[in-house]
Amino acid sequence: MNLKINDNVFDQFPNIETKNLVLESFMIKDAEEIFKIRSDDRVTKYLDRDNHKTVEESGSMIQSIIKSFEDKTGINWIIREKISFEVIGYIGYWNLIRENVRAEIGYALKPEYWGKGYMSEALLKVIEFGFNDFNLHSIMGNVNPQNKRSIKLLEKYGFKKEAHFREDYLYNGKYLDSEIYCLLEKDL
Ligand SMILES: CC(C)(COP(=O)(O)OP(=O)(O)OC[C@H]1O[C@@H](n2cnc3c(N)ncnc32)[C@H](O)[C@@H]1OP(=O)(O)O)[C@@H](O)C(=O)NCCC(=O)NCCS
Repeated sequence: MNLKINDNVFDQFPNIETKNLVLESFMIKDAEEIFKIRSDDRVTKYLDRDNHKTVEESGSMIQSIIKSFEDKTGINWIIREKISFEVIGYIGYWNLIRENVRAEIGYALKPEYWGKGYMSEALLKVIEFGFNDFNLHSIMGNVNPQNKRSIKLLEKYGFKKEAHFREDYLYNGKYLDSEIYCLLEKDL
């Protein structure tokens, strides 16, 4: 049983390759592609965060993601399709709860790439990295209960619903429910 995060993963950015995808470090030059993702209503519908209004905003997000790796507080990958080398989305452990050897996962794909199994492919490798290399004990996802695509994806790999919080999140003048899904190392 893992009792401590493996900090060696922060020595060098851990690129990941899957059958159809490469997962790499975010770069500032990817700001326009991230803007396309985070300014699209179909993507942000259940993220319950404001759409990015400018490419600069996406650049700031990238800067804080790069800093989180330097500070050893998160690992986030940009996802490229191998065949086109286009940035199609991102995935990562954006919130590391070090004392509990736990991390919160987040992900998004450009809608043109939904329904191809690409996020399933990326998520499996990121989960395996999380348990085998990062030494996580548990991985959690916080989802809007209406985000059926995301829930289906988490359940596919055995994430269990552990909580349904009623109206715990105030966004845009509305109190929204949240669901917490979790995968323990021993579940995989
Ligand atoms: C959540 C999100 C990443 C899921 O994307 P997705 O493409 O549905 O997820 P998957 O990669 O698991 O693909 C599954 C779909 O691909 C299909 N598929 C095709 N080939 C496949 C393959 N080889 N393997 C697996 N699935 C395949 C499946 O049938 C399924 O389609 P369906 O939903 O029409 O039945 C996407 O909806 C998204 O970016 N949402 C916006 C951001 C967001 O909400 N993030 C989560 C916040 S908690």
